[in-house]
Amino acid sequence: MKVLVINGSPKGKQSVTLQTVLYFEKLFADDEFEFLHVGKKIRKYQKDFSKVFEKVEKADLILFSYPVYTFLAPSQLHRFIELCKINGVDFSGKYAAQISTSKHFYDVTANKYIEDNCGDLGLKYIGVLSADMDDLLSKKGQREATDFWKYVRFCFENDIYEKAVKLPARPTKPYEKQFKTIISKTDRKTVAIVTDCKNDPNLKNMIDDFVAIFPFKTKVINLAEFNFHGGCLGCFSCAATGHCIWKDGFEDLLRNEIQSCDATIYAFTIKDHSLGPVFKMYNDRQFCNGHRTVTVGAPVGYIINGDLDAEPNLRMVLEGRKSVGENPLAYLAYDPDNMAKEIQILSKKMAFLLDQEIVPTKDFYGVGGMKIFRDLIYVMQGLMKADHEFYKEKGIYDFPQKEVGRILLMKMVGGLMTIPGAAKEAKKMMGEAMVMPYKKIIDSLDKKDED
Ligand SMILES: Cc1cc2nc3c(=O)[nH]c(=O)nc-3n(C[C@H](O)[C@H](O)[C@H](O)COP(=O)(O)O)c2cc1C
Repeated sequence: MKVLVINGSPKGKQSVTLQTVLYFEKLFADDEFEFLHVGKKIRKYQKDFSKVFEKVEKADLILFSYPVYTFLAPSQLHRFIELCKINGVDFSGKYAAQISTSKHFYDVTANKYIEDNCGDLGLKYIGVLSADMDDLLSKKGQREATDFWKYVRFCFENDIYEKAVKLPARPTKPYEKQFKTIISKTDRKTVAIVTDCKNDPNLKNMIDDFVAIFPFKTKVINLAEFNFHGGCLGCFSCAATGHCIWKDGFEDLLRNEIQSCDATIYAFTIKDHSLGPVFKMYNDRQFCNGHRTVTVGAPVGYIINGDLDAEPNLRMVLEGRKSVGENPLAYLAYDPDNMAKEIQILSKKMAFLLDQEIVPTKDFYGVGGMKIFRDLIYVMQGLMKADHEFYKEKGIYDFPQKEVGRILLMKMVGGLMTIPGAAKEAKKMMGEAMVMPYKKIIDSLDKKDED
């Protein structure tokens, strides 16, 4: 089998993910491996795509090898996929598989993003190996990797692949500006509108309409006009120093122009099942901020040009981000059949959140995500010093072994339950004991009423 490896890691040959591919290459000598280091050399491919055409044509199977970066793939790989579509590379009849490494924080959304794009490119998608970055160092991880490659070969030999599921998207309708600017605006609070809008009249009109009717001060930050020197290189310099090695003013933009605002609206057009490479660069470069949830409580909202109903994976990314960041979500405005109404709802809900200072709630996306970060930062505290201090200060190190009282209580209850005569009585008591603290809170409301 002739395999073309699309190495999406900006670290090129130093990629941890790539080591598993090199492991396959050694183990399965009858497979031929060719490489395109698109993560590291994206600028080269931006100028000249001929090597890509040449290598794709010869391949039987395309293997995407990449690290998970901020819920998805590195911005460089997003750009490469965009370029494949723009240049009309012919992948028809070829198979695809993917391997990612990460700490399993939203690896599922990254993997689905690649799978969805394989569907767009007409590739016969086989499956994914989503490994922890340390997996290959253990016998178990080596076994999993080997089994995965055996499975890929089996599927290839037997022409077996997954059904491509593509949800029908409603067409985007031209959106004309329709609201007049309201006069009574307050500058008590400022909302940053972050966009990558470029030659996109629909999105521009949506943003203009939101700005016109929103009762608070707004500040539009257009990433398309910002001179990014490059995407995140995964070099980890920022982990130790807190500063990015790119000196293009991004940190200043992020901290002083965006994060200093009271809320953020993101405005974008759906591209390749994502927010597009520019927004992805913006997200990846936030690694200079480490894993610190510095905008807790600041509401977020979205103006989306495109049908989010056809993009459940992207919705999960947006919902996951707000839950991990503890940002109340004002609204996802996107319904292409009803966009003016959507913008009004977003404006009203965002104003309500800002006025009332509504606190965010967490769900599985946020609780699960933060537990992964908690364990990671604790182990890496020597390198990620700023993150460690932040986690200590904010009480994020909520390891369950600290709950000594509860552990002892449960042992006692568990012991009682094994005593035949006491079990029935203990069960009854347990039910009452469990609701007691809640009852106290509710009863205290009566007291307040009497006061
Ligand atoms: C900018 C950046 C973003 C990252 N985002 C995630 C993430 O969302 N989830 C995760 O589990 N790991 C994340 N990681 C960790 C990498 O996925 C992990 O270190 C990976 O093994 C690196 O692979 P590579 O050496 O092939 O580039 C991130 C790392 C960087 C530098």
